Amino acid sequence: MPRTEPIKAVRGVRDILPSEVPRWRAAQTAASEVAERFGYQEIITPILEPAELIERAGEDTDAFAKELYRFADRGDRQLALRPEATAGVLRAYFERNLNQGPQPSRLYLLGPMFRYDRPQKGRYRQFYQLDVEAIGSASPALDVEVIEIATAWLTEVGLGDPRLELNTIGDATCRPAYLEKLRAYYRPLASRLSPDSQRRLEANPLRLLDSKAEEEAPFKAAAPRITDNLCAECAAHWQMVRRLLDAAEIEYELNPYLVRGLDYYTRTVFELFPRGQSGQQDALGGGGRYDGLAQAEGWSATPAVGFASGLDRVTELMAQAGVPVRSSPAADVLVLPDGDLALAAAEVARICRAVRSTAVDYEPKSLRAKMRSANKVGAKWVVLLSAEDAKRRTAQLKDMASGEQEELDWTELPTRLA
Ligand code: HAM
Repeated sequence: MPRTEPIKAVRGVRDILPSEVPRWRAAQTAASEVAERFGYQEIITPILEPAELIERAGEDTDAFAKELYRFADRGDRQLALRPEATAGVLRAYFERNLNQGPQPSRLYLLGPMFRYDRPQKGRYRQFYQLDVEAIGSASPALDVEVIEIATAWLTEVGLGDPRLELNTIGDATCRPAYLEKLRAYYRPLASRLSPDSQRRLEANPLRLLDSKAEEEAPFKAAAPRITDNLCAECAAHWQMVRRLLDAAEIEYELNPYLVRGLDYYTRTVFELFPRGQSGQQDALGGGGRYDGLAQAEGWSATPAVGFASGLDRVTELMAQAGVPVRSSPAADVLVLPDGDLALAAAEVARICRAVRSTAVDYEPKSLRAKMRSANKVGAKWVVLLSAEDAKRRTAQLKDMASGEQEELDWTELPTRLA
């Protein structure tokens, strides 16, 4: 066989190791508990979706265009690895008739998403989201409900008091006229804009508002604001969202430049940051209302609102903040056969497993070396098994905390370990 280099992971993905999993579990369990406390039900949708489903959700957006993992399968179908969950959840809502049930459908999803982004700390090509969607209602109370879920979840995992940034971006009634105003304002400045902004000026001028180019900051400050250009319905919605947030005692900052990276939003948009940090890269989550997406996807017009939050970032911050999570040892009981006693050791392990997690050290090592491993993995008990024990169906049970050891019949193990 020719020598080959060991094969390493794909760029931008990572392994979540057993030592990190308790934190991930804690974050996911809290997510389910909080979502269910608000009456949301879990949905699991495919990671693979038709590329067109994703692309129709937005064309000039980074996540959908240059960041999309898009490929043709063996049958030459154009597929995508989902970059986010909203389009897929909305598809399932219509395709699987959730729209026929009581409205709104309150749904949440936990799972991996894929974006061909430049990998860096907190930004991965495969990452995990908690996604929450309320589909089938235009009530501003639901905008606030999903924000409340997001903040409740972050509080539950020990990252309480996130900073909430809030804005509205109008809807199909008022936004076109506003965008025209924005274009008219920026056109005379075009030569002084960054190449990215020049490109966006005609196609998606809203994105000029979240441009990070420093030379554009003064232009942004004087640009017309959507909040001064809302139609009556959007203005009423906006006012109600803020009243409801006040009533829920959720603090927020108005950010007129917050437009979000995805095209499909209407009215409310928001992002959550760890307190004391800012910038797109650190966002713990974001979302908003997307009343026009259903129609863009070919379904009947249906209002909806939701958010998603990155588990990678949340668990990283939990680790940094030293949030305590309960981690259990690999096994409570370790069976240590002294020599080649696999049959007897496996049987003893089966007996112990009725009451405790149990593993066997089958390796051809000395008993002393096996004891050292048992100490390392943090087993609570070891069951020592000699050839003589195996013959008599007895074992030596050692309590690792007290150091006490006693001889028992195998049949006595479950009651002693329970
Ligand atoms: P998004 O802002 O693109 O929104 O992503 C939501 C969150 O996912 C971000 O705030 C961040 O925490 C995390 N995230 C995004 N990209 C990465 C990455 N490359 N690596 C690690 N974490 C990342 C959405 O996805 C919308 N679907 C949210 C939504 C739901 N809007 C309405 N409903």
